[in-house]
Amino acid sequence: MSTTLPWFNAAFPLYLAPMAGVSDKIFRQICKRYGADVLVTEFVSAEGIFRRNERTRQYLDFDDRERPLGVQLFGANPAHMAQAAKQVVDWVGPDFIDLNFGCPVNKVVAKNGGSALLKDCPTLSSVAKAVVRAVAPLPVTAKIRIGWDANSINAVRVAEILQECGIAALAVHGRTRAQGYSGEADWRVIGEVAEAVTIPVIGNGDLFSAQEVARRRTETKIAGVMIGRAAMSAPWIFRQIKYYLVTGEPLPAPELSERWNVIIEHCRRHADDWGDEEQAIRSMRAHLMAYSKNFPEAKALREKFQHVSAVAEIEDIAEAHQRASREWLLPNASPLRPGCPPGRKRARTCRQMAHGSTQHVELQSDSVIINS
Ligand SMILES: Cc1cc2nc3c(=O)[nH]c(=O)nc-3n(C[C@H](O)[C@H](O)[C@H](O)COP(=O)(O)O)c2cc1C
Repeated sequence: MSTTLPWFNAAFPLYLAPMAGVSDKIFRQICKRYGADVLVTEFVSAEGIFRRNERTRQYLDFDDRERPLGVQLFGANPAHMAQAAKQVVDWVGPDFIDLNFGCPVNKVVAKNGGSALLKDCPTLSSVAKAVVRAVAPLPVTAKIRIGWDANSINAVRVAEILQECGIAALAVHGRTRAQGYSGEADWRVIGEVAEAVTIPVIGNGDLFSAQEVARRRTETKIAGVMIGRAAMSAPWIFRQIKYYLVTGEPLPAPELSERWNVIIEHCRRHADDWGDEEQAIRSMRAHLMAYSKNFPEAKALREKFQHVSAVAEIEDIAEAHQRASREWLLPNASPLRPGCPPGRKRARTCRQMAHGSTQHVELQSDSVIINS
């Protein structure tokens, strides 16, 4: 592997995937605290930057503690992309620019952006070359899907082209554009890309546990991984992955109280940031639904989250949920105790909640220190 990106040197970096409407500054910082090594902004329209659109400008906001951080751009006009990238570098000074060649959304592909460029390699190449030239020596990376559809899987060819254009690293989401988020990520193709090029390849798609990351790392020549949806419901997955990669032992999810603290912190900071608390909390519902995914009594929580519009309401829900869970955990509680969560999953849920970590893991930028 040849690289100019220091976070790949003797390390296996964990990237937080760019996710529009999700991976904003607050969420990125939470993931960073739990061990995400490299962060990427939500995708930003090059045309919006080119037109100095104020809303687009806000997506670029980040804090120094998030470094190394990349700003992801999408667009299909090489000159505009180059100018937008240069503008971003002058405005906010990211550590790298990331080019989006994977977005499946109709509005984006209709303008030949995102994954549409997988079908138009000459334009993809012109965009990549123009941006690399415009921001040099700042590194430029790219994120692709494995092809447009099942009949046109061309990730290896695209990766070779991007490498020739001077792209410094490549994230590969193992789905075609036609798949959207359905089916499974094809890790065989990700592995072929990692074999074919010398730049670091970051594997992405359906990584929901530390064990899966370890398996993919062993099976392919990927130089790092990128985690998306799993981090939405469990930002602590980065800590779990690092712990597992170092020790070979699974690290349980944090205790319920810590998980609630993260949710409340996220909501509070989001409300502060927006100014309008009601609007802010309503806009958090997708996050709240995701967070509740691995919680005991998740269905009841999701129903409650559908109606929240204030931080205080979430704090009340958190308190009641933790109170109830303490009752479920009373040492002599019978499995049939009315307070226990009903259903087949009861025993497992109670065990999960009882799982407190006995070890403390302290994370540094690219290493893990484990204190018993
Ligand atoms: C809500 C959401 C928003 C996304 N937005 C972006 C984006 O702005 N740019 C991008 O390159 N990929 C985007 N993606 C794709 C993810 O970065 C990632 O490739 C995909 O979710 C597969 O990874 P996962 O299985 O770990 O979630 C988005 C995915 C989701 C679920």
